Formats: sequence, C-alpha cells, structure tokens
Amino acid sequence: MLIAQITDAHVGAPGSLFYDRFDTAMALANAVAALNALTPRPDVVLFTGDLTDTGTPQEYAQVRRVLASLSIPLYAVPGNHDHRETMRAAFSDHEYLDPKTPFFNYAIEHHPVRLIGLDTVDPDQFGAGTLCGSRLEWLERTLAARSDQPTIIFMHHPTFDTGIEHMDRIKCANGDAFEKIVSRHNQIERVLCGHVHRPVLTKLAHAIAMIAPSIAHQVPLDLNPDGPSSFNFEPPAFLLHRWQANQAIVSHTHYVEEFGPAFSFASGQPVN
Ligand SMILES: [Fe+2]
Ligand SMILES: [Fe+2]
Repeated sequence: MLIAQITDAHVGAPGSLFYDRFDTAMALANAVAALNALTPRPDVVLFTGDLTDTGTPQEYAQVRRVLASLSIPLYAVPGNHDHRETMRAAFSDHEYLDPKTPFFNYAIEHHPVRLIGLDTVDPDQFGAGTLCGSRLEWLERTLAARSDQPTIIFMHHPTFDTGIEHMDRIKCANGDAFEKIVSRHNQIERVLCGHVHRPVLTKLAHAIAMIAPSIAHQVPLDLNPDGPSSFNFEPPAFLLHRWQANQAIVSHTHYVEEFGPAFSFASGQPVN
C-alpha cells in the first residue's frame, strides 16, 4: 500500500495570490499533477489541513476545482486556516465524514493500514490546536476497537516542539494526553502532521511522528528562540509512505518540481 500525504496548500480565492506573491492554487494543481504521474500510483492521498488560507466558500470551491483532476481517493482533515463547517459543506460528498459528529474524526477501514483522521482544530485559538476530551475519548475508543491492525493517525497540528519557536507556540495544546493514548496502542506506526511547513521527524512513545513539508510555501529552519515568523520558497514537496506486509512503513519525500532527467550509473546518459 502506498499512502501519499499532502499538506498546507493555503489556497486563496480565484485570482488571488498568497501575500501578493504566490499562486497557491497553482501549487496545489502542480502537486495533483505530480501525484497523478506517480508509478505506481498511491492508493490514497491524505490531506493534513490548511486546505485554504481563510476558510471561505470561494476558497473551498477553488480547492474542489483543482482536486477534481486528482485520480486517487482523498481523505482530508482541517487545519487552523480552515473553517470546519464551511469545509464540511464543501466536502459533503465525502462519505467517510460522520454526520453524528461535528469533527473530522474518522477511521478508514478497508486498507491493510488503518487510517485515522483526527481533527485538532480549535476555532477559539488564533493558530494553535487542541484535542478536547470528547476527541481524545473517541481516539482511545477507536484505537481499542482494532488493536491488531497497523495504523496511521493523520492530523494537522503536531503535539511536539520542533525548536522553531513561532510554530511551537501554535502546536496542539494537550500533547501529553495524546502521547499517553499513543503509548497504550502499539499498532500505531505513524502520526502524520502538517502545519509547520517543513519536514520534521521525531518519536511519540513507540511511534514515529512526521511533519510533511508544504506543497506550497515553506517555513525557514530557524532554531533561534526569537526567530521571526516567516515563510520562504524552498521547493514544495509531499510524503509517500510505503507499507508492505511484515515490514515497517518506509517514508519518502517527493519534490513536486522536476529537476531534469535522471542519469544512468552504467552509461552516464539520461534515463528515459
Ligand atoms: Fe499551514
Ligand atoms: Fe496550520
């Protein structure tokens, strides 16, 4: 099974540019084209939040227009730049969304790897996320239901510090409670996040936690405690997580942009 993860598109309304500089809808379109061109093709695409920049219906319409050409099933969770109810209306045809809960909490059961989407959005915070008691309780119960199935949790906000201070200030607030749950469920192989706009890797209990780079703009690596909140244009990328029976999941980074041909080690000539 091949699981692609894209994140943090920050798509604006048609005709707008991110900070008057950057066409994020085009960035998402480029990522969709790169996903469709992959061989073998991923089985699923996980979209770990900040689909839009300000969560308006116009922005979600633009997201759906661009995603219409994606030929792979997509599962999405919201980020702090999304608006939960507006996103839900825009994705009302996505049957995995549970009408009994306002949250984007769900488990996708029909693959060899169980995929659990977890909603970390807190509309009362400026950028930080949270996992309230009801979401933590849902997660514990959902994990306990299938303890023998390799599992990926995907969510927007990481629960851990990265050392990039201005992003750590807006992480998921109650990471300790989340990590305690992870520690009780050995079947969790990955916790996949977005939000930080650069690739980061750590451990949460026994599980590997990863933050994917954005398919749009990135956040500079600045480990100075007083580093400014800023973005840059390091290359857009997404992650590919490869699962094979009886093996640990292996995660690759794939750049959206092409960097010219590959060259044969045997001949030194371009490989077609
Ligand atoms: Fe973001
Ligand atoms: Fe975010």
